[in-house]
Amino acid sequence: AGSGKFFVGGNWKCNGTKESIAKLVSELNSAKLESDVDVVVSPPFVYLDQVIGSISNGIEVSGQNSWIGKGGAFTGEISAEQLSDIGCKWVIHGHSERRHILGEANDFIGKKSAYALEKGLGVIACVGEKLEEREAGKTFDVVFEQLKAFAEAISGWDNVVIAYEPVWAIGTGKVATPQQAQEVHAAIRKWLTDNASTEVASKTRIIYGGSVNGANSSELAKQADIDGFLVGGASLKGAEFATIINSVT
Ligand code: G3P
Repeated sequence: AGSGKFFVGGNWKCNGTKESIAKLVSELNSAKLESDVDVVVSPPFVYLDQVIGSISNGIEVSGQNSWIGKGGAFTGEISAEQLSDIGCKWVIHGHSERRHILGEANDFIGKKSAYALEKGLGVIACVGEKLEEREAGKTFDVVFEQLKAFAEAISGWDNVVIAYEPVWAIGTGKVATPQQAQEVHAAIRKWLTDNASTEVASKTRIIYGGSVNGANSSELAKQADIDGFLVGGASLKGAEFATIINSVT
């Protein structure tokens, strides 16, 4: 781990029921968690209120998306103001599932992030290359292009955590090796130095996502530029998520 306080997010994606979520929250509430870690969980929208009303142990809650501007006639959307209103502190933007399944483009993602930041939410800004992009040697180009779109829209990196999630590692069980992840994290930090400032580069948490589990998290956490994780599947199991949180070095 390198900069800032270790940050571990659990992205529950489109999973859970009232009952399974109550069980997961109670496991997390009673887990022994390292105190020097920011822990955030991101339930589906319909369960946000349930989780906010029941979670403790210092865990904060994030939305999985938010609308590009003020609310109104936008069927199916949730505004940043509404997330804040119910007690969310964070929102995820640029997740690969939204980029590649829902077709969200770089500039749309940048604008949504900017609006959420303006309304006081922290943003978990996701970037990452597809397998064919990696194989074509384009990993850095793709990641830098995605970062640039955030940078052009937002007015500062203060409340942003960058999540590097290589698309080929998400939900596949094929975790990036610690070296593969470290290489991209270091490049992202260098990009922040060159395109923002050394202060931003040293303060901004860069977390890794993609098949993180209780067995591989501690090796990853030892890397100099890995400041935490964004966890999908393994965050649905309380004990395993606690192991990942506690892999802070
Ligand atoms: O946002 C977290 C994520 O995309 C990683 O998912 O299931 O590979 O841990 P998973």
